[in-house]
Amino acid sequence: MTDTTTASFAQSITKYRQDYRPPTHLVDALELDFDLGDERTTVRARMAIRSNRSAENQTGELVLDGVGLDLVKIALDGVDLRRERYRISNEALTITGLPDQCVLETEVLIEPQANTCFEGLYRSGPMFLTQCEAEGFRRITYFLDRPDVMTCYTTTVRADRDRYPVLLSNGNLVQAGEDGNGRHWARWEDPFRKPSYLFALVAGDLHCEPDSFVTMSGRKVELRVYVEHHHADKCAHAMTSLIKAMRWDEETFGREYDLDLYMIVATDDFNMGAMENKGLNIFNSKFVLARPDTATDADYERIEGVIGHEYFHNWTGNRVTCRDWFQLTLKEGLTVFRDQQFTAEMTSAAVKRIDDVQVLRTRQFPEDAGPMAHPIRPEAYQEMNNFYTATVYEKGAEIIRMYRTLLGSVGFRRGMDLYFERHDGQAVTCDDFRTAMADANGRDLSRFERWYQQSGTPVLQVSDEYDAEMKRRTFTFTQVRSPTSQSDQVLPLYIPVAFGLIGPDGADLTLRLVAEDRAGATTRILELTETSQAFVFEDVLPGCVPSYLRGFSAPVELRCERSHADHAFAMTHESDAFNRWEAGQRFATEVLG
Ligand code: SER
Ligand code: ZN
Repeated sequence: MTDTTTASFAQSITKYRQDYRPPTHLVDALELDFDLGDERTTVRARMAIRSNRSAENQTGELVLDGVGLDLVKIALDGVDLRRERYRISNEALTITGLPDQCVLETEVLIEPQANTCFEGLYRSGPMFLTQCEAEGFRRITYFLDRPDVMTCYTTTVRADRDRYPVLLSNGNLVQAGEDGNGRHWARWEDPFRKPSYLFALVAGDLHCEPDSFVTMSGRKVELRVYVEHHHADKCAHAMTSLIKAMRWDEETFGREYDLDLYMIVATDDFNMGAMENKGLNIFNSKFVLARPDTATDADYERIEGVIGHEYFHNWTGNRVTCRDWFQLTLKEGLTVFRDQQFTAEMTSAAVKRIDDVQVLRTRQFPEDAGPMAHPIRPEAYQEMNNFYTATVYEKGAEIIRMYRTLLGSVGFRRGMDLYFERHDGQAVTCDDFRTAMADANGRDLSRFERWYQQSGTPVLQVSDEYDAEMKRRTFTFTQVRSPTSQSDQVLPLYIPVAFGLIGPDGADLTLRLVAEDRAGATTRILELTETSQAFVFEDVLPGCVPSYLRGFSAPVELRCERSHADHAFAMTHESDAFNRWEAGQRFATEVLG
């Protein structure tokens, strides 16, 4: 979920996907200590660093990201670092002559109360909270703020006890105590390695709605929804949704929650819709708070979907994360697909599919046809925040859906299992995902990569001919270049067309392709990989009405000749709910237009 509104134009350097280099250094552990104050906040960081032997770009220098930080202290292996050993710019701290392995300590001052960009640590009303995706952590402390640097975090939060009785961070609470002068502290430990964008901290005076969940292996997980006190009567639906999502991910994908605690915090000032920080999700209130007398059915459904989305990220995003931000769709397209499936199963699959396609057509298709068009995996960016788009999310989810259409639900699950087995704890690429899908199913999906490379909504033209004597009907599908395509080169895509033929009696025909000895299915997945491909069906009665792209099996624009009578017939007899709806829409649009 996202709002795409944040834009900071501080840096206008273009970054290219092809320029990816592994990090020069890795971080084995990170200890953070926050002293939260009204005027200023001190952040101490202690990191165990070692040089990354597999990186080719060894320069002997360590460049840590950092924006708007006031460095107070820096020490290497317990000794204050001499001034000539480091340089500070607006965006980085560069340290020279680092040993292969060392402990670096820094202390910086920040001003969360003056932070108006909603990235990093900021004040929201009476609360302190964070938003680190995509590159907000660098506004908290000096760090290798890139998703392929994963480490274990221990976080201590100190603040005034009366005003901030609740002190939260990722993981499990390991210790808490008093600092004197009315201040207290809490220490959190997250045993799972994570990238910095998943770091979170919350401090405030919040109501806690508790519950629990027993996982499929019998572990008890504490669940908590935190809201401002006057919202205490609006948390029940969020909690029910979370429990449903946890059960669904176990049943559908065999994915179990890993920590002992799962927390959701709702706030009115949050510019992403919601954020999947490990064990500590932060949400805009509108995706949490609901009460029957003030919320609509659509609100209830949306809350369930967004709670599910953030929960599902725990495996698709957190346990397996992105190597770099060009791969954003790896976690977002996949997680949107997962939340769509979840909602489909909790409500009506047909209505959900229609809703999702309407969102795609009204938001993503225009984006793909205009100056903002970009492939789901962009090649270059200046400001990552501008790439939280309908293309990366919604079209990305359609691409994942096509894997499932091509591989079947059993094959798709096999691919997901292999993806988790291979990459748990790693920061990976969209290619790694595709390779897992291909390997688990013994399939060649190399051509499928084009969906990640080309922008624009593909146009698919279909024509057909009937040979009455032979009772054969030939359907020719042609991929034509979209007039609005931004890509220089448009190559044929791998398109699954879910296809059926409705007989004159209104029943689906069992389909048989020429020279094929089996018949049986009434919906077939026709796999298009070339610019133009013909499919010849046998034993076809005269007067059949074809049904293309059942369930909207590919994010394309379909062009075919259809009479009003065909539309009316499909409205009555289509066995596919999406196409039945689509026929009605087309018919009405043509008649009214
Ligand atoms: N990563 C967040 C989400 O998709 C914000 O975009 O939920
Ligand atoms: Zn997401």
